[in-house]
Amino acid sequence: MAIPVSNRSRPSRNPTERLNQALPGYQQQVEAALDRLLPSAEVQPARLHEAMRYAVLGGGKRLRPVLVYATGEALGLNPKHLDGPACAVELIHAYSLVHDDLPAMDDDDLRRGKATCHKAYDEATAILVGDALQALAFRCLADAPAGQADSDARLKMLATLGIAVGSRGMVGGQAMDLAAEGKALNLPELEDLHIHKTGALIRASVMLGALCHAGHHQEQLERLDHYAKCIGLAFQIHDDILDVEGTTEELGKTSGADTRLQKATYPALLGLPEAREHARHLVQEALTSLTEFGPEADCLRGIAEYIISRRN
Ligand code: IPE
Ligand code: IPE
Ligand code: MG
Ligand code: MG
Ligand code: MG
Repeated sequence: MAIPVSNRSRPSRNPTERLNQALPGYQQQVEAALDRLLPSAEVQPARLHEAMRYAVLGGGKRLRPVLVYATGEALGLNPKHLDGPACAVELIHAYSLVHDDLPAMDDDDLRRGKATCHKAYDEATAILVGDALQALAFRCLADAPAGQADSDARLKMLATLGIAVGSRGMVGGQAMDLAAEGKALNLPELEDLHIHKTGALIRASVMLGALCHAGHHQEQLERLDHYAKCIGLAFQIHDDILDVEGTTEELGKTSGADTRLQKATYPALLGLPEAREHARHLVQEALTSLTEFGPEADCLRGIAEYIISRRN
């Protein structure tokens, strides 16, 4: 079946240019929406609400919400109406970082250039921050603006996110990551780990953006899903590479943390040049799956390139 896209010509702009043009606006849009959504630090329990705001606002690249907006853009939706899913995926991501940094997990002191949530507050508060952010994510997906989604599409979005972040998705990946510390995984095992712990939420971000479009076609969804699978894995490979190559200052988190914890990573298994090559190959595959889309998918193309060129 032919894919019904508005413009079949080759991308006219440089995708990186399109991303650079759109990125600040999308980042500001999700920041403002998150600010409105999170309870004020004056509302009781005040310390919990303050810590939730501390963990979410004023930091991070906002890649997952940007993927929601960019997917909407690729399908001709107005990104102005996509704040529900955009906030939902960032809230889940922020919760996952707060828990990932806990002493029982990666035991990190620095996140997004400031003290981790459990260091700035305390461990019990950090656990509760994660719990509350996850609940807020599902609530806002249920009732905040979501493009053209009717109630059936909303239910599908809720189920998609639930599957992506549960024990068969992100949380399962985190369990695999912890179990693999100090062990030698082979390539298929490591790929499986990364696809779950990081890939699942990135994939869900693209899917939620697509489900906001009432007229989406199965083939379009499949192509976008393949794009998302490829960039999701490339994203975690590059995160592993940055842990080796980046400085703590650049990253806003402690570099070399994976080596310290003997984490299963791509550079540890393949070496840096091969890990880089693997990520580049995945980005190429992601771009190929967007071939049938016109310039409206340039932002998605730019994101694919950005994922393996970013310095943090
Ligand atoms: C870090 O994610 C955790 C991983 C899944 C690798 P990001 O690199 O997207 O972190 P922020 O949101 O920009 O801080
Ligand atoms: C974190 O992966 C993945 C999730 C939070 C789900 P990492 O442990 O590699 O992330 P960083 O390097 O601490 O940001
Ligand atoms: Mg971790
Ligand atoms: Mg970590
Ligand atoms: Mg990492």
